[in-house]
Amino acid sequence: MPQKFDTTTQIISNEQIATNHFLLRCICPKIAAKSKPGQFIHVLIDEGSNLLLRRPFTIYSIEGDEISMLYQIIGKGTEILSTCQQNQQINVLGPLGNCFDLSVKPDPAIVVGGGAGIASLMLLATALRLSDVRLIAMVGAMSSDRLLSVKDLEEIGAETHITTDDGSVGNQGFVTDSLLAVLDQPTENRLRNPIIFACGPNGMLRATTKIVVDYGIPCQVAMENRMGCALGVCLGCVCKVRLPSAGFEFQRVCTEGPVFNAEDIIW
Ligand SMILES: Cc1cc2nc3c(=O)[nH]c(=O)nc-3n(C[C@H](O)[C@H](O)[C@H](O)COP(=O)(O)OP(=O)(O)OC[C@H]3O[C@@H](n4cnc5c(N)ncnc54)[C@H](O)[C@@H]3O)c2cc1C
Ligand code: FES
Repeated sequence: MPQKFDTTTQIISNEQIATNHFLLRCICPKIAAKSKPGQFIHVLIDEGSNLLLRRPFTIYSIEGDEISMLYQIIGKGTEILSTCQQNQQINVLGPLGNCFDLSVKPDPAIVVGGGAGIASLMLLATALRLSDVRLIAMVGAMSSDRLLSVKDLEEIGAETHITTDDGSVGNQGFVTDSLLAVLDQPTENRLRNPIIFACGPNGMLRATTKIVVDYGIPCQVAMENRMGCALGVCLGCVCKVRLPSAGFEFQRVCTEGPVFNAEDIIW
């Protein structure tokens, strides 16, 4: 069983970076040393809040002993988290789950992030660029004030394509429209061995899966089902996964996932 660490630490910073979105940084040396792209942490939110369940967040970045997570305010837990101050204590369990499979070198790697989904792809994007992989990043948001990670992606040398629902920045439309545009581009920008990595709302992942199946391109998706224990015990996080032979089984996003081959998921 892979090692995981239950760490109580202090928040270094917890800054609003876009409407409804925050970046939280904390020192977790053991988690930082062992985490791989796609893995997540399970965060206990303020012990006085009566929230019994931890909340899962993908590791956004690792710098030395420091990890960060980029999160969207969705409900009570993330609302409370957004009020946490520098030096306040936080309890973090991780690293959890599997990771992206990087055994085949993509050319290019295409990351497709819908909304806060891009947060689950940033550590992967960084690792790919460190291995000198050509990186195309599709970033989708509702509007310009909710656009995430574009500066971080450009800093590591990603070719970035932006779409917003309202057209306030980038192209108007869905992030999957950008993906189609890149897949259909002329042959001088040839995609030799593309691999797609996607995270976002289920509707977006379903649309991405249809595209990758049509184009015959391998695609790994990071699933973000609601979780209870995140340790494989409660079965609260399962998704339906196609079996190679025939039929399907329910697999746990927290332990068999969160990363799955897109075409294996039965949406
Ligand atoms: C492996 C994993 C990694 C994740 N990484 C990130 C990340 O990096 N950044 C980020 O912003 N979010 C991430 N999420 C989602 C995040 O965990 C949830 O948004 C968070 O738990 C919501 O907690 P809450 O207390 O604010 O909302 P709750 O009060 O628990 O819920 C509020 C409402 O949102 C719905 N809801 C809650 N969680 C989810 C969900 N996962 N999917 C769909 N609907 C939901 C509830 O049904 C409810 O209606 C991740 C989830 C998983 C499983
Ligand atoms: S969250 Fe309990 S089994 Fe996955």
